[in-house]
Amino acid sequence: MTHIKIAPSILTADFARLADEVRAVEEAGADRLHLDVMDGHFVPPITFGALAVAAIRKITRLPLDVHLMIEHPERHVEDFAKAGASILNVHVEACDDLPAILKQLRSLGCRTGVCVNPPTLLSEIDHVLDQVDQVVVMAVNPGWGGQAFIPETLAKVRDLRALLASRGLEPEVEIDGGVKVHNCVECVQAGANVLVVGSAVYNNEASVGENMRALRATLAELAAS
Ligand code: DX5
Ligand code: ZN
Repeated sequence: MTHIKIAPSILTADFARLADEVRAVEEAGADRLHLDVMDGHFVPPITFGALAVAAIRKITRLPLDVHLMIEHPERHVEDFAKAGASILNVHVEACDDLPAILKQLRSLGCRTGVCVNPPTLLSEIDHVLDQVDQVVVMAVNPGWGGQAFIPETLAKVRDLRALLASRGLEPEVEIDGGVKVHNCVECVQAGANVLVVGSAVYNNEASVGENMRALRATLAELAAS
């Protein structure tokens, strides 16, 4: 089985100790860091921008998986690329000309991701599947951490993997929102190979290390089965 990547989202981390929180997941074996950028328009909350991404870039070697939940991403992607984003993920729902913005991302030297919200049909991204390095399937309606996983997402991941296979395409499939120890195996079995985990890792129940170990152990059991 391919190595399943764990991408902690810092959205529910303690922002007063952000550097420590980032180092904690890096030391615990995270494969990348998921940074949820929100503009208060595409989604109601505002989180952080390129300034914060640049600061985080300086304190970790992890690839930065930047999730742009913003209107008109084409106006901002250069700032995020300069800030050190490794992968820039744009929402199909926010892009008037998705192929153009994906081309823009590549010209900036970033890997490209396209995100689909729960109500969005896969047919909306059909025309760019051969132009992306990853597809992000949202398992919650974007805007907040700690939301409940939408189970219909699993069928969407399966359908996506089947569509990709029919085209001979193998981008990464990242699932984002509500992923926990109790449902991560189903996500992988459906075809996701990158798991975004926010409140599963940053919470008051256990330490970051303990939460990451619980996820890895569950995934290791799957790999061994
Ligand atoms: C939601 C974000 C997700 C979220 C994940 O809009 O895109 O990345 O932070 O957090 P959990 O894992 O707690 O749902
Ligand atoms: Zn996200």
